[in-house]
Amino acid sequence: MAIRKIARMGHPVLKGIAKPVPDPTAPEVKALVADMIETMIDANGAGLAAPQVYAPWRIVIFQAPAERAGEAVDEAEIFDHTAPLTVLINPEIEILTAETEKGWEGCLSVPGLRGAVPRATDIRYRGTTPEGETIERRARGFHARVVQHECDHLDGILYPQRMDDLSELIFESEARAMLAAQLEANEAEKETSDAR
Ligand code: NI
Repeated sequence: MAIRKIARMGHPVLKGIAKPVPDPTAPEVKALVADMIETMIDANGAGLAAPQVYAPWRIVIFQAPAERAGEAVDEAEIFDHTAPLTVLINPEIEILTAETEKGWEGCLSVPGLRGAVPRATDIRYRGTTPEGETIERRARGFHARVVQHECDHLDGILYPQRMDDLSELIFESEARAMLAAQLEANEAEKETSDAR
């Protein structure tokens, strides 16, 4: 296993359409996936797509930990919002709702930045594991977001291309100040509506 170099926005490998993997159980695929996992964990990312490590194949890995699940209520809901470390080869996404929600995203290929990106809130996805098994899951919230973000990489799309307001593309170092300001604005609004 090895930590691989991560391609950054502007490199052609991030703009192309990645190729389907003919044999998901091939040893080369296992080796690439092992490197991707090591690279993602080292870089502290929630997901990684093969083109980001200069391998133009339809492979993504991701995790959606419980602490990022947001306001999930019952157990089924929570499961939809979280996912263990998952490897998907030749993934497909089915969008189950026209409803979108904005949320903050970052990308290891766009270091130092954060952007508010609208994404479908409810999806189903399927793909093959390196063991040759089929995974099919329904995903909502952060789980749905990370899968859409990673699968976009396979079609040459980076999250800024999905944004509808580039004033919401900000430096990570400013994110805390911006969130604090937002929180304050929300509080002020709540006070106003409470007063009514
Ligand atoms: Ni990314």
